[in-house]
Amino acid sequence: MSQARLASCVPLPIEHKTLVSVVEKAKDWALMHGVGMRDKQHFNKDTIQIAPFVLLPSPFPRTEFTKAVDLQPVLNELMHKVAHDDKFLENTLQNALEVDDFTAKLYDIWLKVREEGIAQSQLSLGLFRSDYLMQKADGNRIKQVEFNTIASSFGALTSNLPAMSRYILKQLGYGDMIKNMPENRALSGLCSGITAAFDLFGVSDAIILFVVEEVSYNICDQRFHEFYISETRPELQIVRKTLNEIYEETSINEKGQLVLDSKPVAVVYYRSGYEPAQYPSVREWDARLRVERSTAIKCPSIHYQLAGTKKVQQALAEPGVLEKFMGGGTPTERVRDIFTGLYSLDFDESGERAVEMAIADTERFVLKPQREGGGNNLYGADVRDALLKMRHSRERAAYILMERILPPLVSGYVVRPGAEVPPPVTDLVSELGIFGVIIGTKDKIYCNKQVGHMLRTKLADANEGGVAAGLGALDSPYLLDL
Ligand SMILES: Nc1ncnc2c1ncn2[C@@H]1O[C@H](COP(=O)(O)OP(=O)(O)OP(=O)(O)O)[C@@H](O)[C@H]1O
Ligand SMILES: [Mg+2]
Repeated sequence: MSQARLASCVPLPIEHKTLVSVVEKAKDWALMHGVGMRDKQHFNKDTIQIAPFVLLPSPFPRTEFTKAVDLQPVLNELMHKVAHDDKFLENTLQNALEVDDFTAKLYDIWLKVREEGIAQSQLSLGLFRSDYLMQKADGNRIKQVEFNTIASSFGALTSNLPAMSRYILKQLGYGDMIKNMPENRALSGLCSGITAAFDLFGVSDAIILFVVEEVSYNICDQRFHEFYISETRPELQIVRKTLNEIYEETSINEKGQLVLDSKPVAVVYYRSGYEPAQYPSVREWDARLRVERSTAIKCPSIHYQLAGTKKVQQALAEPGVLEKFMGGGTPTERVRDIFTGLYSLDFDESGERAVEMAIADTERFVLKPQREGGGNNLYGADVRDALLKMRHSRERAAYILMERILPPLVSGYVVRPGAEVPPPVTDLVSELGIFGVIIGTKDKIYCNKQVGHMLRTKLADANEGGVAAGLGALDSPYLLDL
């Protein structure tokens, strides 16, 4: 059954006066529970403003939600195996490396630590997030947008949101709806990964290092991890440092430990380091190499980060590749079922066909470079322009082509800082992210679980919905039994 629009959890629109009142309540709730971010225009460390959010939980089919939740440990393990398959990463990334300087630099670090024999024997910590959109034309079944292996964000903020939605639904007289909102324990789950890694490191006076940007706008999401760990494990010390500070303040001791303030570092959790602008000079790259060389458990290790590239996502969809990592059978079929069309743009017959196909029908595709952080993909006419320009240039191998997923519409109110109150009812689309935790070495997995979810919802006509980028809004699923 295909539905072009999913029913909202309560009848819309809400009467004007009531709406004004609940929006005010929701904003105050959000501010007072840290559903916030720093203001990019007027940055001030003394103030937090609301993060954009959707007033009422958005509908999501229960079967598809459960499917994504159940699949997470399978995907965690798949990505863990991919990350530890040197040959596969090498073959898959080869062409992109020649033209993508950023991926090449990450890859060089991986080569160095491999030569030194370090990477493979060590524990890696993955705090992953697999993202999905529903495909309207396919009965609203979920399709994977991408798999994030570094700085997967918003687990903390979205763990707070269901409580806000429950409060608002009650205020509106729909308290009975609450039962259809799944609990979200992403924050505690993600933190349990960090503390489990710390325990496996096994040095009681070691510290946990968060790698952060020079300026953190998404400060609440990051700090909540720190606060949660401090509350549940008060003996643990967390330090926040930029890559440049790591360059200046750390060293490696004779045991191979990363040392900061005379203390060994047990876990390094990257909330920065996923895009070129975060490495403005050679110092940041040197810092990354130093961390990677050390015995600290990296989240992610460099090979996890490489496994999270778009190129790897595309390669996994090629015939026989899932079988290679997972064998055949039902789990493999379940994973294949969430893939949408993914095409390499390498200089070979299938790459040529993909170029032709995309130029002829641009609306069907998204063109993606090997980048994270949002705002890098091309859509619509830009796909044709870009492909016509780079058709004969090696640059094109740094991109992949992906079928565009067209999700069903949902209606809702997006509450934004500084926007008019009450907001209008708008057409929106939702993207589900499922968080996963994995800890393991090449040969042994110590922990592998699904830990929670996030929903972010954007205007139906926006291409991308990054919340930090100001396009999307934080949301919670309201599960529909269709
Ligand atoms: N195949 C697709 N069909 C429709 N929309 C897509 C598709 N791929 C990506 N998008 C949209 O673009 C956004 C960014 O894409 P993607 O997640 O691949 O890039 P990213 O830079 O890694 O983003 P992030 O910062 O979320 O990790 C997605 O959240 C989604 O809204
Ligand atoms: Mg990403």
